[in-house]
Amino acid sequence: MLQDIIKEKLEEIKKLSASTKEELEKIRIEYLGKKGLMNELFAQFKGVPNEQKKEAGQMLNELKNGIQTVIDTLKEKIEQKQEELREKDDLTKPADTLSLGSIHPLTIVRKEIIDIFARLGYTVAEGPEIEDDWHVFSALNFPPEHPARDMQDTFFVENREDGNNILLRTHTSSVQVRTMEHTQPPIRIIAPGRVFRNEAISARAHCIFHQIEGLYIDKGVSFADLKQTLLYFVKELFGNQTKIRLRPSYFPFTEPSAEMDISCTICGGKGCNICKHTGWLEILGCGMVDPNVLKASGIDPEIYSGFAFGMGVERIAMLKYDVKDLRQYFENDVRFLNQFAGAI
Ligand code: DAH
Repeated sequence: MLQDIIKEKLEEIKKLSASTKEELEKIRIEYLGKKGLMNELFAQFKGVPNEQKKEAGQMLNELKNGIQTVIDTLKEKIEQKQEELREKDDLTKPADTLSLGSIHPLTIVRKEIIDIFARLGYTVAEGPEIEDDWHVFSALNFPPEHPARDMQDTFFVENREDGNNILLRTHTSSVQVRTMEHTQPPIRIIAPGRVFRNEAISARAHCIFHQIEGLYIDKGVSFADLKQTLLYFVKELFGNQTKIRLRPSYFPFTEPSAEMDISCTICGGKGCNICKHTGWLEILGCGMVDPNVLKASGIDPEIYSGFAFGMGVERIAMLKYDVKDLRQYFENDVRFLNQFAGAI
């Protein structure tokens, strides 16, 4: 009976499978082709007794739709598999995006400062972080009783009998001495590095921070050279509109000494909260190298003169990027660090 054949076929089509388009095409021809099963069953339908025609007709339609659905589903599966394979091998597809790290703001500022001075012919010099008293204090004309040697400020590593104690350098000015000891003028160096002070950590102070020291020694170097060099530096770093102001100050290793202010980067000098309504921001110490310092390092002050300057990298980065709390530089919070992605 036709209905029995159809029932059997309805079960059969549930088990059909094909993994390629060719296999699927064979199935289509077998069931729906000109000489296929469906046409054969429709031919047999003519011989079905009239009273069974309705039931047999419905079953035939069910089988026909069933076959079509099976073929459509198999086709979709095959295409999906092919697409997956193609995607795997497609060399023109854009690569998965890598999440890039960012450059630390202190590194960005240090690099900018080095680049500016490199354009003026300065090279980078380095010295040890664990230093001796001579290079950090004595050779820089600090008198023996100077308070910077006090336990309050300096981390001492080892006390020596001869008084040349070992300590963590409190400033990068020590690199001046190391450079002059083994180089004859002309000297033009910039010395970036970490420094250490025995300070309580707060938003404005840290026991570890970064400085950049500059030193220029040659015949006939004057305070005017210092001022012009610093003005060029500041305009390069903060923009051409920036002004400078030098205030008399005191450092043991320079004479005369000065502190340099720049016109406020926020208000441009009109007065705001950042510059405490003065219009000026202090950014570095500087001066003409004291003859005693030249002598201590083996350079004749009768022939040579020079200037030096020193600045804090954290402070400059704070001004450039409006960082309010120094501790953020060291906490490695990615929400802070990510803001500098792609900065250089
Ligand atoms: N060493 C000083 C400090 O740590 C900064 C400084 C001031 C460096 C004046 C210099 C200078 O070379 O001439 O505060």
